[in-house]
Amino acid sequence: MITSHQSLIQAEFTKQGANFATAPSIVDPSRIARLVAASNPKPTDRVVEFATGPGHVALGFAPHVKEIVGVDITEALLEIANRSKTDRGITNASFITGNVESPTGLSSLPSASFDIAVCRLAFHHFQNPAQALREMSRLVKPVTGRVVVQDVHGSGVDGGKRRDFQDEWETLRDPSHTKFLTLPELTTAFGECGLEVEVIQTDDVIQKVDRWFQTTQTPPESRAKVLEMLERDMKEDLSGARPYYSDVDGEKTMFFTHRMVTIVGRRIR
Ligand SMILES: C[S@@+](CC[C@H](N)C(=O)[O-])C[C@H]1O[C@@H](n2cnc3c(N)ncnc32)[C@H](O)[C@@H]1O
Repeated sequence: MITSHQSLIQAEFTKQGANFATAPSIVDPSRIARLVAASNPKPTDRVVEFATGPGHVALGFAPHVKEIVGVDITEALLEIANRSKTDRGITNASFITGNVESPTGLSSLPSASFDIAVCRLAFHHFQNPAQALREMSRLVKPVTGRVVVQDVHGSGVDGGKRRDFQDEWETLRDPSHTKFLTLPELTTAFGECGLEVEVIQTDDVIQKVDRWFQTTQTPPESRAKVLEMLERDMKEDLSGARPYYSDVDGEKTMFFTHRMVTIVGRRIR
């Protein structure tokens, strides 16, 4: 069953399609190479990617593994993924439609049938991230299977107020945003799914605010509200995203930081 939030996801990502698929931080091959390296894949591995979108991560894994299956709820993005796969001559990747948050959505995929389950930049769109993580854990092999999640993490300071402030402007910019999990929330969720956390890597992605709006085609009235909140954030340090202005070709240009985390957990039983 598709919830109204998931219908919104499909509508947003159908609209964002090409802009999202070509956004610099999404395409960046060096970021994808680091995610693949953190997952430590073997040539014999079968990999499943949750919320694969335009398939950049799946196609980045493909040369390093036996097979990769990408799952997503938005058909328009899977069409982009299939086109890239053909253009790049990749034959060991496949893409299927599915709801990774539904307890029955991925029932066609047998338990313990993959070596790695990976998901990038999608937990903050989920209404039920715990269900998605349980499903990732179900799909990987006990003892050796790894679950890899990469996403922006929210501030854990001030009882969630700073995270809430960022979630508010993120949701104004993209209504399909739900919530950034904090580092402790993410590691606790791994533990609750029987996943031993073995790697935690953090880094920053600098977002140019104009390009970030262009991806989501945020309407002017919402942009104005987001800019107002970012200005306040810049002056008062309200979220940890650290907005700032820099001169680009003689123009005052706004940027901020998305704080990323990559967590690798091994299924212990
Ligand atoms: C920000 S995009 C990330 C795409 C891709 N992981 C990447 O990093 O390039 C978020 C993706 O999550 C997908 N998505 C959101 N909720 C989903 C769900 N419940 N089941 C499957 N896909 C979902 C969207 O369709 C979209 O492709």
